Amino acid sequence: MRVLITGGYGFLGSWIVKDLFAGGHSIFLYDIKQDAERLEVVLNKDIISQTTFCEGNVTDQDRLIRTIREHGITHIIHLAGLQVPTCRANPVLGAQVNVMGTLAIFEAYKECRNQVKRVVYASSAAVFGPPADYPEGPLSDEVRLSPSTNYGFYKICNEGNAKVYFLDHGMTSIGLRPWTVYGVGRDVGMTSEPTKAMKCMALHKPYHITYGGFQDLQYVADVARVFAHSLDVPFEGAKSYNLRGDVVDLQTLHQVFEKLEPEASKLITFGDRQIQIAYNLSDDGLQKEIGPLPKTPLSEGIFRTIKKFRKLEAEGRLDKKDIS
Ligand SMILES: NC(=O)c1ccc[n+]([C@@H]2O[C@H](COP(=O)([O-])OP(=O)(O)OC[C@H]3O[C@@H](n4cnc5c(N)ncnc54)[C@H](O)[C@@H]3O)[C@@H](O)[C@H]2O)c1
Repeated sequence: MRVLITGGYGFLGSWIVKDLFAGGHSIFLYDIKQDAERLEVVLNKDIISQTTFCEGNVTDQDRLIRTIREHGITHIIHLAGLQVPTCRANPVLGAQVNVMGTLAIFEAYKECRNQVKRVVYASSAAVFGPPADYPEGPLSDEVRLSPSTNYGFYKICNEGNAKVYFLDHGMTSIGLRPWTVYGVGRDVGMTSEPTKAMKCMALHKPYHITYGGFQDLQYVADVARVFAHSLDVPFEGAKSYNLRGDVVDLQTLHQVFEKLEPEASKLITFGDRQIQIAYNLSDDGLQKEIGPLPKTPLSEGIFRTIKKFRKLEAEGRLDKKDIS
């Protein structure tokens, strides 16, 4: 496959590059800026030099079409987007990038139908509303969506538009709804705090996770596999799927931290505010459609993440901007 990844220099993008490269695919990174900081902590320089940077704004439909044609792109993973805090601070910009940008991707896909076989795009578990709005769960892909953020409504809008492109033009797409993805490179967004806590543990520093309650923690290599696999698994239609990793409360997460690093009992603290997104989601739909899917145990994912942070620190390559 010749895969264009929008937002390819971001956290998820970097890990998806790693996965796709291992599968021998050609990779093109469409991003607003060439900032390989995250790629460089996930991949070695040799692999990075074999990817192609395509500079552009995801809202620029003409540039997307030119890029797809010029590089003979056959598949698209669309990740470029702004996260909850940015969308909350600037809802108009949020809609421009997250909604108009996704429409531009679908329009470019339509223009290049003779080449492009499929779009796989990042939706989010933020399409779900507060846990109190729902029965206990696990909740299927189809339950009523009632988010409490603009970001969540932008993602619903994208899922709806993806369906319309299938109805009107037969264009196949898969939307994926991660919850809290954690791992090396996760440095922005509302749910980046568990990863920041792991970075602080690696450095023997204190960290306070500002929320509490339940969340669904998903190891980034597993999520990257789901995105990559969704590109070429037999599928026709336009559907969005929940992902499921480890659904745990902060107390349990803290216990896992402590088991791995006893000093975490003092260093890491957490609050009591439940994130207002239903957390007990079923991934039966996804497993049935494209499974079986990998699931790294929580303690293993955390162990690998801390180990990698320590290695980066020893090499003088650990970025600490997000925890200072
Ligand atoms: N990380 C998670 O836990 C999580 C959970 C649910 C959904 N998501 C979704 O997955 C996607 C990727 O998340 P991430 O954590 O890798 O985000 P990230 O912030 O690390 O990366 C986003 C990338 O998009 C690029 N970008 C931003 N605006 C752009 C524009 N206008 N044009 C082109 N590129 C632009 C950025 O430069 C960056 O490289 C996002 O759509 C996000 O909403 C992530």
